[in-house]
Parts: sequence; structure tokens; C-alpha cells
Amino acid sequence: MTEALAIRLADYQPYTHLVDQVSLTFRLAPTATRVKARLDLRPNPARGGGGHDLRLDGEGLRLLALAVDGRALAARSDATGLTISAADLPDGPFVLETEVEIAPEGNTALEGLYMSNGMYCTQCEAEGFRKITFYPDRPDVMARFRVRVEGDLPVLLSNGNPVAQGPGWAEWDDPWPKPAYLFALVAGNLRAHSAPFRTKSGRDVALNIWVRPGDEGRCAYAMDSLIRSMLWDEQVYGREYDLDVFNIVAVDDFNMGAMENKGLNIFNSKFVLASPETATDDDFARIEAIIAHEYFHNWTGNRITCRDWFQLCLKEGLTVYRDQQFSGDMRSHAVKRIEDVLMLRARQFREDQGPLAHAVRPESYVEINNFYTATIYEKGAEVIGMLRRLVGDDAYARALDLYFDRHDGEAATIEDWLAVFEETTGRDLAQFKRWYTEAGTPRLRMTDDFKDGSYTLHFEQENPATPGQPVKGAKVLPIAVGLLGPNGDEVVPTTVLEMTEPRQSFRFDGLPARPLASVLRGFSAPVVLIRDLRPEDRAFLLAHDTDPFNKWEAGRALAKDLLARMVVTGAQPGPDWLDALERVTLDDSLDPAFRALCLRLPSDDDMAQTLHASGHVPDPAAIYAARRRMGAALAQRLAAGLPGLIASLAEPGPFTPDARAAGRRALRLAALALLSRVDGGAAARAAFAGADNMTEEVGALSCLLDIGEGQAELARFEARWRADRNVMDKWFALQIAYAAPERAADVTRALTAHPDFDWKNPNRFRSVIGALAGNHAGFHHGEGASYALVADWLLRLDPLNPQTAARMSTAFETWPRYDADRQGMVRAVLERILATEGLSRDMREMAGRMLG
Ligand code: ARG
Ligand code: ZN
Repeated sequence: MTEALAIRLADYQPYTHLVDQVSLTFRLAPTATRVKARLDLRPNPARGGGGHDLRLDGEGLRLLALAVDGRALAARSDATGLTISAADLPDGPFVLETEVEIAPEGNTALEGLYMSNGMYCTQCEAEGFRKITFYPDRPDVMARFRVRVEGDLPVLLSNGNPVAQGPGWAEWDDPWPKPAYLFALVAGNLRAHSAPFRTKSGRDVALNIWVRPGDEGRCAYAMDSLIRSMLWDEQVYGREYDLDVFNIVAVDDFNMGAMENKGLNIFNSKFVLASPETATDDDFARIEAIIAHEYFHNWTGNRITCRDWFQLCLKEGLTVYRDQQFSGDMRSHAVKRIEDVLMLRARQFREDQGPLAHAVRPESYVEINNFYTATIYEKGAEVIGMLRRLVGDDAYARALDLYFDRHDGEAATIEDWLAVFEETTGRDLAQFKRWYTEAGTPRLRMTDDFKDGSYTLHFEQENPATPGQPVKGAKVLPIAVGLLGPNGDEVVPTTVLEMTEPRQSFRFDGLPARPLASVLRGFSAPVVLIRDLRPEDRAFLLAHDTDPFNKWEAGRALAKDLLARMVVTGAQPGPDWLDALERVTLDDSLDPAFRALCLRLPSDDDMAQTLHASGHVPDPAAIYAARRRMGAALAQRLAAGLPGLIASLAEPGPFTPDARAAGRRALRLAALALLSRVDGGAAARAAFAGADNMTEEVGALSCLLDIGEGQAELARFEARWRADRNVMDKWFALQIAYAAPERAADVTRALTAHPDFDWKNPNRFRSVIGALAGNHAGFHHGEGASYALVADWLLRLDPLNPQTAARMSTAFETWPRYDADRQGMVRAVLERILATEGLSRDMREMAGRMLG
């Protein structure tokens, strides 16, 4: 369908020209902002010097003036840019000047220069700069930027260091060459929460978090996270900050989480603002991780950027990997790993096993904004984790040093990245590279045997077909294994087996008795492990495994096996799982955060994925019902111990967001949710009434909604938080997330009529429409009312904000899993979307790919 419009990796060519310097002047006005640009250009020797036309990207710009070396040229712009014929250009360097007019106030796509609550702000990644001025808007064109901002607002910010300012104007200079996607400008009535920082070599940096007046008191945690991130990157990667200021701005209307613009990070306000009263423990953890992520991009993304957008994982996979390491160091590696794998399976495995599967480094795209995916980010990080496991920590550190040395100031590729590992280790990574070029989640089957003291593990890997990739080769799989003896002692400590063949066996000799293998420790490779294990063996691993990830995974597998049997055969929860879970829950030697994770039942969507992968057609209503029965059985079993457990986890003293306190709250709230199933919500009602922090407030409210109660509490919550956008997002989302399947569409429809359902705000849209898509049984209920409702809203949003609409269309990506009726209904919805006149390129590509 869209073949003709696809951009291909194979077509890459360097740009015809080099840009040495960019000078921009902005005269801000809501409906008529003037942008003057002066570009110092010269022919690119890599394209054989001169003789090329100059092609600049530009969209929605009103061109007012155009001159080369001071000589005015007639304007010849089209819908996507401007071409100046080689005949009009001198042979050597020249200066191009343009002036354009744009209207930030009418920019509802939130890409380019737009307005949010009276504040001007920008989002240029991936291709938003072309909506600001005519420019070679591609990441391999790196230039120095000098920016003058004129506007009648107290705070005027851009990238780099401040040069000069006066009433109504400010000038900024960024000494580091950068691609246009890292450009940023902010202007508004903002207040700063500030702190000083001195880098390890003695550079003083002014740190500022800019927020709307009134929000200054909610910046402390983000600032603390920033300072810890800066110290960590110095200590762990030897990377220092490189400007005199580091500015962060919180914006309410933002399509994504945050953006790493050089020296001027722009954040979705929900990932900056936090106080104990307004933010949950999960919010605090996410803020810490995203502040770190954007800060770490200063080296992995900004100093070394991507040659083209096919290399997006070069910066995103590595930066996610780094922020995961950081969060593990700040909190608990075991808990962080479990949470990351839960997320990976929920989002990336889901993507990889459906019609939107694509490689970590794709070969073509229509709209690059559709490729900011779990595969690029999270699988991209997993691939780096595997690489590190294969080469070892020291070699990893040396490879990274070489990477930073060699490519600083450059726009690099995955080939460059792999080359530093090949050179530091002498390894050939040709086969490993398949992880970047081939999509799909490998399935790894394992069997074992024991004879005469020799224990052998047999593995077989299968690499399933994905769209456009019918056949693929074997992957390099680092399989971390440990062996446990019959009494639970570890007889062989963690060993990394390196599998490179489709089938491979590994033998361990000299064992007195048949061991039980703990396989894929730490989730050492992003695969689906298929292994027949008796429930008592899983329970044994849950009790004895020394690897915390696999200890959790054993309990998880026990629960999933049971839940699958409950769905398929109507079985009842047996003693294996209940006994095992009771032991873990009441084991005070285990981290409360870990125990809370063990109590979390597999999600409905996770079960649908698992059942589908094992050859069943998942029935959403049956999964929902079985999961409810499972929760009820667990609540009955643990009932007697719950009040004591809850009481023992009370935190005296004021709220602190640290991991230890958060873990205790998590376990307490997990216990409260179970208790609510047997006490009618009495304890949760009391907890809600007495809550002095948002974690408790939302936690207790969730317990009540989960048992079909909590209407009075919802009303009180709304009355208390009506004026707070970020908190009210939770209020909207919770009601839909916990709605019973047959009510989910109606609850959602009613909330879309609420006066505070500001659907043009991406956070609010996600809290309502996204929450319905996330309520598995509700989304797939009955005759497709939820499908239609979600589609209607996507089509309504698409003309205004294609990026957010297209992203949310992934609600439909799992349709091939389900029965013929549901498949037919979703196909009809996707066909209706595709047939809509004026559909965005973003949405057209997504719907087209989902239909296959
Ligand atoms: N680079 C940003 C980050 O990972 C994400 C920006 C994505 N923006 C977009 N329009 N797709 O932090
Ligand atoms: Zn990123």
C-alpha cells in the first residue's frame, strides 16, 4: 500500500552539504511567529564536493524571504521543502538566509513549535525541526547553533549556554555541534527550582527545573534524581556534563515521556512533578528513571548521535540499558530486573509476536514516529545486556571507552557500535548482529537427562517468521544456568552457556545426583523458554533458587501453568501454588518489594499471549473469570495472616520515596487488596480515609474498585484533586482499569462526557482511551463496543495529533490471537480506519501494517 513512500536504509547517502553554523532569531507570537535562519553551508566532500542542488526540508512554513550570499532568490518551496538549484549556488562555502512565519498556537500535533498553557515549547525529534524552519532535518547533519529569542515573556530558553539577555530577549549559544532534532526553545512564565553541581573535573553547572508558578514545591525529587544521575555517569561510565547550565522544563501537553534536547530537556510534567501527596511510589521510580534516561542521552545520543533513524536503537537501546543499570544501583537489581522483564513481555513480546513485529534496526519505515517502540527501546537494551554477558564486564567497559573516544562528535551506526566490541574482544559478531536485523521472539525448548553423574541440557531454538522475514538464522543466545542439588544447595554456580546452533547440548559432569537446573537466570536472553517442569519442581526453585530473578520466575511459571489449566480445563487452584505463595508472602527474610511482585498475578493480556503461543485461542472472558477465581482462592488461603502482615509493614514517620519504604508499601497494599476480597473493603476504606500520601490513597482506592466498591471514595478523590491535572489522570484511568468487562465501554463513554475530559491533552487521552485498551476483558467484551469506541476516538484525534493517535492504535495489534468473530470485528474496525478520508500518514501506516 504505502510501499512507494517507504524510506529505506539501503538508500542512505550522506547529505550534499555540510552546515558549519546555524543562527536563528525567533520573534514569538501565538499566530505569527517569525523565524529568521542563517546557515553557513559548504559542499560535502563525501558527496564529491559541489554541483548538487540544495534540498531543505520544510513543512507548513510560510516563506517570506530567501537569499544566498545576500542575494535574494525567488522562492520555490513545495509541500515538503525547498530546492535551490546548483546553478544558483557558488562553488565553495556560502550563506543561506531564510525568513518564515509559523503559527504555534494552532499546532495541535505537538511537534515543532507549539503552545501549552501559554508557554511556547518545542518537540523536534524525530522530524519536527522542519516545521520551524527550512533545514536539512536529518541526524547526520550536525552544526553549531546560536539562537536569539524575542518575546514578551519572563523566561526565554534555548540550547547550550546563555550568552546575553535583556527585557524581552535572550541569546543562547551551543558550542557542541548537534543535529536539528536536538534543538529546543522554551518561553513562558516559569519558575525555577535550582541547584548547583560541580563535575569531577571542576566545571560548575547551574541546574534548573522550570515549572509553572505553584509547582516549584514538586521539583525536589526530580532534582535529586538529576544530581544522582550526573554523579553515576561520572563514576560508572566516566562521562561528565559539558555545559554551564542544564535546564529541564515541565510541560503538560507532550506526546511522549521526555526529550533529551541538548542542555534543555523537555519533560511531560507527569515525569517531573512529585510530592508525597500527589505522586505514587511508581511515579517516583519512573521520574528517577526518566530523568536519568534523558540525562544519559547527553553522551549516548547527543555527543554521539545516530547517522539516520534506522539506527535509533543505537541511542535508545543503549540509554535504556544505562538507565536500567542506574535504577538497579539506586534501588534493587533483583526487583528492577523483574519489573523490566514484566514490561518487556507485556509490551515488546506482544509487539514481536504480532503484525507490528519489526527488527531492532528496521530496514524501512513510512513514518519514523511509529518506530519509537518497545522493540527499539526495550529489546534494544536487552541486546546490549546480552552483549555484555557474552564479553564480560571488563570488555564491556573497554568497548564503551573506545566507542566514546572514537565516535565523539559523530553520527554513528550499529556497525560502528559492534566494531568497538569486535576490536576490544577479538570476537566476530556477525551472527550476533542478527539480533539487530531480525525481528521476532525466539522460542527456546529445553529438555534434560542425567546418567552416570553426567547431566545434559538440550536446547532447541526456533525463530518464528515475522512480517517480511519468513526465514531467519539461529541467534547467539547467552543462557545463564545454575544447578541445584536435591537438598536445595547450589551444586553448580551461574555459568553462561553460549548457544549458537539451532540445536545444542551442554554437559555437566561429576554430579552425585540428578540436579534441578535453574535456566535463563536473570533472564539472560529475551526468549520464550519452553520447558516441561512439574509443579513441585517449580515450587522447589521458588524456595531454593539463589538467582532472585529465577526465584520469582519459578513462582510466576507456577501461577501461569495453573491459570492456563483453570482457563482451559476449569481446574481449581491446587495446593502447590497456594502453599508456595503463602510461604513466600510470610517469609520475612525476603525483600518486601520482591514478595509484592510474587503476589502480582499474571495479567489477562499476558495470559492471552501465553495461551496463544501454546496453541490455544484465548477467551478474554474465561481468562478474566479464572484470574478472579485465582485471586479469591489466594485471598481465602492467606486471609488469617493478612491483618498481621499489614500491621507489621506500617511505616512510622513521614513518607520517604526510597526503595525500602516503597517496597514495604507495595507489599502492604498487595496484602490489602487480598484482604479486601474477604472483608468487604473495610480495611481499604479505613486506609483510604487515613491516607497521607498518594501511594496509599490510590492503592486503597484500587482495592475498593477491584471489589466493585469505592464510589464514595471516587467522589471524595475527585473533590480533593479536581484542580490537579496529573492526579486527575489517575482518577480517570483507575475507574476504567477496574471496570467489570461488561461495563468498561459504558464507564469509558461516560467519562468522555466529563467536563475535564480534555481529549486534546495526550495524558488525559491516554488515561481514558488508553485505559480502556488496557482493560483486556473489557476491551474484548461482547459485540465489540470497546473496539468501536476506541476507533472513534482515534479517528477524532488523528487529524489533530497523528502521533499520539497512531501510537494508541497498537491497542489492536493483538487481533490475530483471538477467535474468528473477534478477528472479524477488529479487521472491520481497522478497515474503517484505513478508509477514512484525510487519514494521517502515521495512522495509515499503522492500520495497514496491522491488517498485513
Ligand atoms: N528521544 C526521546 C527519549 O527517548 C523520545 C522522543 C520521541 N519523540 C517522538 N516524537 N517520537 O527520551
Ligand atoms: Zn531516549
